[in-house]
Amino acid sequence: MTIRQLLDDRLTTALHLAGAPDSSSAQVRPSARPEFGDYQANGVMAAAKQAKLNPRDLAAKILDNLDLSDVADKVEIAGPGFLNIHLKNNWLAEQLGSEKAFDLTPQKIVVDYSSPNLAKEMHVGHLRSTIIGDAMVRVLEWLGHQVIRQNHVGDWGTQFGMLLAHLADLKAQGDEISMQLHDLESFYRAAKLRFDAEPAFAQRARDMVVKLQSGDVECLALWHQFIEISLSHSEETYQHLGVSLNREHVKAESSYNPDLANIVSALQSKGLLTESDGAQCVFLDEFRKKDGSIDPIIIQKTGGGFLYATTDLAALRYRNDILKADRILYFVDVRQSLHFQQMFALARKAGFVDAHVLLEHMAFGTMLGEDGKPFKTRTGGTVRLADLLKEAEERAFSLVSDKSPELDEAERREIARKVGIGSVKYADLSKNRNSDYVFSWNAMLSLEGNTAPYLQYAYARIRSIFRKLGREAPEASIQLQESSERALALRLLQFDEVLLSVAKDGLPNQLCLYLYELAGNFMSFYEACPILKDDVPRDSRDSRLKLADLTAQTLKQGLGLLGIEVMERM
Ligand code: ARG
Repeated sequence: MTIRQLLDDRLTTALHLAGAPDSSSAQVRPSARPEFGDYQANGVMAAAKQAKLNPRDLAAKILDNLDLSDVADKVEIAGPGFLNIHLKNNWLAEQLGSEKAFDLTPQKIVVDYSSPNLAKEMHVGHLRSTIIGDAMVRVLEWLGHQVIRQNHVGDWGTQFGMLLAHLADLKAQGDEISMQLHDLESFYRAAKLRFDAEPAFAQRARDMVVKLQSGDVECLALWHQFIEISLSHSEETYQHLGVSLNREHVKAESSYNPDLANIVSALQSKGLLTESDGAQCVFLDEFRKKDGSIDPIIIQKTGGGFLYATTDLAALRYRNDILKADRILYFVDVRQSLHFQQMFALARKAGFVDAHVLLEHMAFGTMLGEDGKPFKTRTGGTVRLADLLKEAEERAFSLVSDKSPELDEAERREIARKVGIGSVKYADLSKNRNSDYVFSWNAMLSLEGNTAPYLQYAYARIRSIFRKLGREAPEASIQLQESSERALALRLLQFDEVLLSVAKDGLPNQLCLYLYELAGNFMSFYEACPILKDDVPRDSRDSRLKLADLTAQTLKQGLGLLGIEVMERM
């Protein structure tokens, strides 16, 4: 059990014994300020209101029913009915030395993330989903959940018509296809130019879509070739980013094709489909436009074509029936919110997902440039991820070379890779994903503030203590004498509860903030508590070395869960 779970259990039990309704809970959280103790119960006021009791009286009754003497020095009533809990030093010290476990019911969790369209090369628009989703799957797995990654790549749709028509022409001229697709971005642009300028080409492109959808063998072979190359581009980017996605996680849109007609007939038989202008649509009363009319979900176009939504319904059914998910998370741009709200509502109504299954759209905002507009190249084009990552490493390399010219080039390159990629990831992860965020090289590569380099440096700095010492941390019992030692110990003990909260809310920025505060606690501790000085008594030194080591391990573990590497020096 985490400290928070333990206190919450005990206080909630006491709350019920004191006469509050069963549905109420103590809502224990870490206190915002030291004068409020280490943890605070915030739930008393709400419980009192529900039971029509005076909150301070209820708080007093809770204290009568509560025995925390094994873990706390005192519990005080504060303000209108808060309970402030001050934990015992000895108990904290003991906790740090013992194996910890926490209460968790493992779930099967499907995580849909990255999911780029394969018609184009991965660009910065895919960065947030890929990075945030990857941190989340690592956290969920670490906690003991079974995670099924689903890279719902877009490999089907009308754009492929023009791409394949262009590809077929080049092939007929005898061009090597892999050469042509080496730069997917220019290939896409060339095809698009022709599509817009040459009516005959545009017509062939449209015919190509029909041929593709009807399973024309030659067309499919060309399409396969294209997808294969595009997927390997994505894989290179995943590898470069250090993201845990590979081929086995790809579950492409096209894989649902055989099921789309079944989706239509299932909706039909449930009486959910309405024909509108020749298209098959679902009208759900709860989705209304500003003018009051219902915003329809189009399931099948006039002429028989299926849509993005149709595929997502098939995917939902697959994730429920075949993957047997308990929880399904979508890391997708906030601009698709309406789409997902409609999908979830319709999937429930149609019985495609069981009632207990949680469906959550983990939306995120746009990545902006320093001018506050969507992030673009200087000439206004989309920034390819591959280029962005290269630039990150180059910038980090010149910083490292300035700071540590004595290291040989290979080591500086390796450090630059970890710092560069780590900075790009951390800059994104450390912001609340719900808002837009400004991409700034200077801010993300700074050694000060809530950045990857700051945390990587904090880690390296602790490791340098052990290098100086010439050995690793001894087995020692922890002593908490100074207030900075105590604050550090308490923070270390909160790692698991932060991860539980990240898992629940899908907000890795909570983990970033935790690590940043942990590093801050360490810096204060290190200033106040000498370790290697001659006059430090042996058991204090050993205890402090142990605290330092636990901090390093926690930083490494936490950054690892964010997909960020550390190094022994930088
Ligand atoms: N390929 C889509 C895009 O780039 C994202 C897919 C998200 N996942 C899903 N199941 N719809 O916008």
